[in-house]
Formats: sequence, structure tokens, C-alpha cells
Amino acid sequence: MNCPAPPSTFFAQALVNWQRQQGRHDLPWQGTHEPYRIWVSEIMLQQTQVSTVIPFYQRFMTTFPDVASLARADLETVLGLWSGLGYYARGRHLHRAAQEIVKQGFFPRSPEELQKLPGIGRSTAAAIAVFAFGRRAAILDGNVKRVLGRFFALDDPGNAELWTLAESQLPDRHLEAYTQGLMDMGSLLCTRARPRCTDCPLQTQCQAHLRGETRRYPTARRKTPRSQRHHRLLLLCTPDGRWLMEKRPVPGVWGGLWSFPIEDMDSLPTGHSRTLDLTPCPDLEPPPFIHRLTHFDWHLTPRVFRISEAVPAPSSSPWHWGTLSDLMTYPLPTPIHQLVHTLFTRETEDVK
Ligand code: ADE
Ligand code: SF4
Repeated sequence: MNCPAPPSTFFAQALVNWQRQQGRHDLPWQGTHEPYRIWVSEIMLQQTQVSTVIPFYQRFMTTFPDVASLARADLETVLGLWSGLGYYARGRHLHRAAQEIVKQGFFPRSPEELQKLPGIGRSTAAAIAVFAFGRRAAILDGNVKRVLGRFFALDDPGNAELWTLAESQLPDRHLEAYTQGLMDMGSLLCTRARPRCTDCPLQTQCQAHLRGETRRYPTARRKTPRSQRHHRLLLLCTPDGRWLMEKRPVPGVWGGLWSFPIEDMDSLPTGHSRTLDLTPCPDLEPPPFIHRLTHFDWHLTPRVFRISEAVPAPSSSPWHWGTLSDLMTYPLPTPIHQLVHTLFTRETEDVK
């Protein structure tokens, strides 16, 4: 009969074995130790699932095969390739970090040095250090917090406690399989809503599972209510079908991307349409929508106006009048892309 592993190594051993047999092995950023490829994948995977990331990652690698090509590119091209992935700050940081790496002349190798680059937090730095440089460092993303919280049945653990625990479980060897196993287990088996404990390599020692209390963990944190912001989106259209777009300021939400001008509902002077010859077109208005951001819900209400002619934008201004098919090629935030697409479909149907 097999001797049970001592409890302190059970967690890591079970994950390493499971990863070898059942984990993911053929993702496009696996099978390499090239720091550039690993770094880009870890940034894309920060807030986005593997299946969504894959096509974006492949496109990105074709366009920017190495850190030098990324550093040389203009930000607009980078954000264009990011369009649809969301959380654009990641794309901006990646671009800036590429320029820093090229200037330094080498890729940092330790978690401490990696963390000094824009967009790389403690967990991402550890993942890159493990996968690219075989270092021994602990990751701790949302999935890992949930796995630890359940395995150890932690009631409302703080970050410091979770980091200490994550580090205490690191094996001495096979860091790569361990780290990948932890990630894969968290996203494939130990899911938030319905953990598949019967398939889980940790089930014999998992405290939440043994107590039949996986639902209790992770304990719900008391959330501060999300704030709500209301803005209007100004959809200004000329008789020859050109629409006004504005490049969003950096830093800020959607910084560096293009959008219809966003107007603050509260600061809007009433009767503003007197100075410009604007005709409201309520019949053409797409429905209001809510865009959820990290810190607030953004309620956006599209308002369509016809304007008699395109007011020329000063050459230095971040404004541009473009047809809908032009605008679809701009780097746009996802909801704005959808809006342009809706207007475009309607326009082409009207013509038929
Ligand atoms: N999430 C973050 N990094 C990951 C990776 N390398 N593989 C799978 N999921 C991940
Ligand atoms: Fe998660 Fe269930 Fe595995 Fe425990 S046994 S780690 S709750 S999947």
C-alpha cells in the first residue's frame, strides 16, 4: 500500500501529478522559455480566460514577434490588436514595458526586478519568473485564492495570510508543473460556482470538500457598493454620413482609444445646441447601456444629433470626422465597437 504523503507536501505533489496527467500542455505560450512570449501571455491572461486569449495572442505574436518590434510599434497599433480583449491599460503598460526592456538591453529575471515593469504585479512577476527562468516563486491570482481558501477552509483570509500560505506550499522542484497545475485546477475544476470535487486531485484533504461546505468558501467579502456614473454619448452625424469621434485622454477610462464624445450629464449646460446647428434625432437613438468597469458602473446614453456640416477640428485636436466603415478600423473599446457596428448595419440596411 502507498504511504500517504506527509500533509505539508500533499498539496504540491497532488497538483504536480495532476498537471502532468490532466493539465493543459499545448497552449500557444507553453513549450517555450522565451520570456517575451511568456510575458505577453501572462498579461493577456490577467483578466481574461484562456479560450478568449488564444486568438488575440496568436495575432499579437504574428504582428510583434519579439520585444523590439513591440517597442518600435506605435501605441495605436498595439491598442488596435487589443481591441476586444478589454482592460486596455494592460496594452498600454505592455508597450511601455517593451520600451523599457529594450532600453535596459535585457529581460529582468527575478520577481523583484520584473515587478518594476509597468503592468506586472507580484503574482504575474512570479508566473513569468517560474515559466521563463525556472525560479521558485508563488503566484496568487483570484483562482489561487479560491483554491487555497477552500483547501484550508479559511474564513475571510487577508492578502498577507494568503501570500504566506501560497509561499509555504511551494515545492522544491517542478515549479513549472506546480504553477501551471494550480492555475489549471483553479480554472478547470475548482470553479467559483460549481467545483468538480470528484475529479479533483485535492479532494482527500480539501477541508471545504470534506466538510461539505464548498459553497461557504470563499466567504463572501462585504463589498462597498459600486458607484454609478451617468454620461451621454454624443453621436453627431453630418448629412454625408460622417460621425464625430474623440480620442480619449490618457490616463483615464479608455485612454488612447477612440469613442463618440462623452458628455457629463451633470455639467451639461442646457440649451448647448443653440451655438451649433444641431437637430436631435431621437428615432435613431440606440438604447442606453451599462458598461461595468472595475470601480463603477458606467451608464451611457447615446444621443443622436444631425449637424449641418462637419465643424473642422483644429489639427492638434483629438477629434476626427469619419464614416462608420472608417471608424470600425480605429482602436475602439468593445461597447463603442458594438455601437458603431449597429449604426453601420442600420445604415447599410436603410440604403437597400
Ligand atoms: N492564467 C494565468 N496564467 C495562465 C497560464 N499560464 N495558463 C493558464 N491560465 C493562466
Ligand atoms: Fe476545490 Fe473541490 Fe478540489 Fe477542494 S476538492 S480544491 S473545493 S475542487
